[in-house]
Amino acid sequence: MAKRTVRDFDVAGKRALVRVDFNVPLKDGRVDDDTRIRSSLPTIMYLREQGCRVILMSHLGRPKDASDPALVLDPVAMRLGQLLEAPVRKLSELMGPGVEAAVASMKPGDVVLLENSRFDPREKKNDPTLVYELARFGDIYVNDAFSAAHRAHATTAGLATVLPAMAGFQMAREVAALEALVADPKRPFVVVLGGSKVSDKIRVIDRFLDLADRLLIGGAMSLAFLKAQGLSVGASKVEEEGLPYAKEAMKKAVQSKCALVLPTDIVAADGLVEDAAAWVVGADAIPEGWMGLDIGPATAKRYAGIIATAGEVFWNGPMGVFELAPFAEGTKVVAEAMAACPGVTVVGGGDSVAAVNRFGLASRMDHVSLGGGASLAYIEGADLPGVATLPDREEA
Ligand code: 3PG
Repeated sequence: MAKRTVRDFDVAGKRALVRVDFNVPLKDGRVDDDTRIRSSLPTIMYLREQGCRVILMSHLGRPKDASDPALVLDPVAMRLGQLLEAPVRKLSELMGPGVEAAVASMKPGDVVLLENSRFDPREKKNDPTLVYELARFGDIYVNDAFSAAHRAHATTAGLATVLPAMAGFQMAREVAALEALVADPKRPFVVVLGGSKVSDKIRVIDRFLDLADRLLIGGAMSLAFLKAQGLSVGASKVEEEGLPYAKEAMKKAVQSKCALVLPTDIVAADGLVEDAAAWVVGADAIPEGWMGLDIGPATAKRYAGIIATAGEVFWNGPMGVFELAPFAEGTKVVAEAMAACPGVTVVGGGDSVAAVNRFGLASRMDHVSLGGGASLAYIEGADLPGVATLPDREEA
């Protein structure tokens, strides 16, 4: 059911405590990819137009210490200010008297960014003392951080239980897209899964074997399936713990109406470097000492053909080591097939998003989920704390 959003509540003039996910890659002290910052601009701009004082909260990375200078949010504030074309005041704390004074001096439309929420050890414990300290700064709580919604933290879940809570536009868009995908996918429903570990995705594989019509496997994960069939995968890095899961999935697929499709050819190389010797070989003929680094051209063509006839496609995980040009082709062919597909196309998180961005195809997808872990958890059927704590529109 749709969540209450900032449009369903009289937010005018309120102090809005807004959880965003500005956990973005940094390089040389600058934001290297601002997709997540851009994704929350509509919510921030709407709240400013409504005369709100906008107090932003985010985590960045996984700090070990209470304050890691490499993980302060200053570069993020700078990029946000550029994108908003408005001043963003970055505070050096998450709470305390300094924050209290800064919030008290805010005018309608002002934007403040609090320091990395994970600098406070109470954040990850969803500690009520932190929840109540933060709640004092806001009249309403807005969650626009779908990609952190699988975390039950003070700023992602706790605050929703003590302030009038609602979703931002990015959160609402993500939930609507994934809800539609799980509840009523257009047929035939094709799922493309790649990446490295079967064990990370076993629950999602299981779910899709019930839900999808075709499940196409690529990436290092596909090598685990080949190995589980008794084939030799040479020196490929295969997750041994994933083998029983792969066997289990293949067993289930026999009884399922969903076809589990594996690569029939592989790009194998003698090293994980750009200029390695590389060769296309049959999936059952990876030479001793060589490693599989991409799906082969016949497999890519077959996958593209299946995607072309899909009513809906969900894709998570690259088909090969796409960061290196000689092993990017399989991922590129899948991305292009999705872009050309007349059905609904959803890309879910992490490396697949990086891939569609790299190939300049993101704008041709119907939905690009910014939450890797969160989107998979949602599809698995888990109750995401950051979503579950927001009231439904009707209920509200
Ligand atoms: C992500 O990048 O997936 C989210 O920001 C969550 O980050 P986390 O895995 O460190 O909780």
